[in-house]
Amino acid sequence: MAQLNVNGRLRECDAEGDTPLLWVLREQLGLTGTKYGCGIAQCGACTVHIDGVAMRSCVRPLSTLSGTEKIVTIEGLAPDASHPVQRAWDALDVPQCGFCQSGMIMAAVALLKSKPKPTDADIDAAMTNICRCGTYNRIRAAIHLAAGQVQRQAIAITIQTEGGAA
Ligand code: FES
Ligand code: FES
Repeated sequence: MAQLNVNGRLRECDAEGDTPLLWVLREQLGLTGTKYGCGIAQCGACTVHIDGVAMRSCVRPLSTLSGTEKIVTIEGLAPDASHPVQRAWDALDVPQCGFCQSGMIMAAVALLKSKPKPTDADIDAAMTNICRCGTYNRIRAAIHLAAGQVQRQAIAITIQTEGGAA
């Protein structure tokens, strides 16, 4: 029995050590927002965050994780899907079939954490996930839109914090 920290909760998982994290999330924990595409770390549909870094969960065995790593799935980004990246996706109607999109959003959130104002080249280099529907242009536009929102949110938090500290 392994213990994982998923979306801020410690969860018990009863699976073999070589079970990929993707299947633990989907089948044991019922977190089906994370998708299976290729199973060989190529498409990014299974992207989650582990300690804030975007990872492909289809190739991450359960035995390499413990309760100390913080795992975040699409369900854990915001309780009401109101994360700035999710709002930007919604505003620009990014998804078509939608299958790749939770992985895309998780990759985009990780990108904006490391590069709050990415260029097109930064986005193209970081977003290696595959979309069979070809939504790449809207994804790029949504990341730029979200970058502005994330920055405004950070400024508002700073002002609030400074105001509270005064
Ligand atoms: S299912 Fe993991 S990268 Fe494709
Ligand atoms: S929206 Fe269909 S695969 Fe990306």
